[in-house]
Amino acid sequence: MQPVEQEYVKNVDKLVPRPDIALEVLQLAYDGGCDFQELGAKIERDPSLTANMLQLANSAYFGHMRKISSVHEILVRLGLETVKMIVITSASIGLLKDPQEAYNLDAGMLWQHSYATAVLSSIIGRYARVKNSAALYTAALLHDVGKVVLNRPLQAALLNREEQEVADSTLVMEQRLLGTDHARVGMFLLEKWGLPAAITVPVGFHHEFHKALIHKLPTLVVHLANLLVEGMGFVAENGPRPAVEDFVDERIYTAVPGFHRNMEDIIDEFYEKIHGLDSGGMG
Ligand SMILES: [Fe+2]
Ligand SMILES: [Fe+2]
Repeated sequence: MQPVEQEYVKNVDKLVPRPDIALEVLQLAYDGGCDFQELGAKIERDPSLTANMLQLANSAYFGHMRKISSVHEILVRLGLETVKMIVITSASIGLLKDPQEAYNLDAGMLWQHSYATAVLSSIIGRYARVKNSAALYTAALLHDVGKVVLNRPLQAALLNREEQEVADSTLVMEQRLLGTDHARVGMFLLEKWGLPAAITVPVGFHHEFHKALIHKLPTLVVHLANLLVEGMGFVAENGPRPAVEDFVDERIYTAVPGFHRNMEDIIDEFYEKIHGLDSGGMG
């Protein structure tokens, strides 16, 4: 770990509590051959994780006709791949729901942006035939977790700065004031939590197209999905849809297999899945 990032991540346990049970559950799920009884018992040790999971399992995205009322039912009826996504989503709500003042993000906004990026990444990833879809989804969901770590230091630095900043990009501002940026800090945090490179690398390079190209498809997909979600001004309701070509460089979207050809279908499916999204009730 590099010194600057280490410094910011050092006391992070107080600020961003490590989602222990969620990580344990993911470990069990990634190991394969896990037993649903054991998995369910682990999840139920965390009441807010359990509540979030039930709410998500019954949401429009995962929603099934019959209401799901227990963790065991989630496991049996939705299958392991879906359960992984629900666990990591539920754990992330706790990490990402707070306001991040230094970034002008009100309560719930970072979570909505992250969730939208995860949903879109998983759709793009399916067309691009990304193999590890759970890792891609997790990386997309946590891609901006570094903002939670840097919010306070950045706020302090913004207060103390002498001259008025010109309208720089977030990344340039972070680099100048803190000597690092949220992508790098996010990667270090997730490494510290023991998550695999399939998750940490796309997080670390989600703002760098050229590095994303080197680091292969999942990183490129998260990079593209983040730009698209930002460009669409992410609205949950159906509204006028801006043309993708207006805000994403052609080099980026043509580098992702299957994207350009299926762009209309991908964006349609995204709006359908994200429609009616509401983080309000989720603790
Ligand atoms: Fe970012
Ligand atoms: Fe982002």
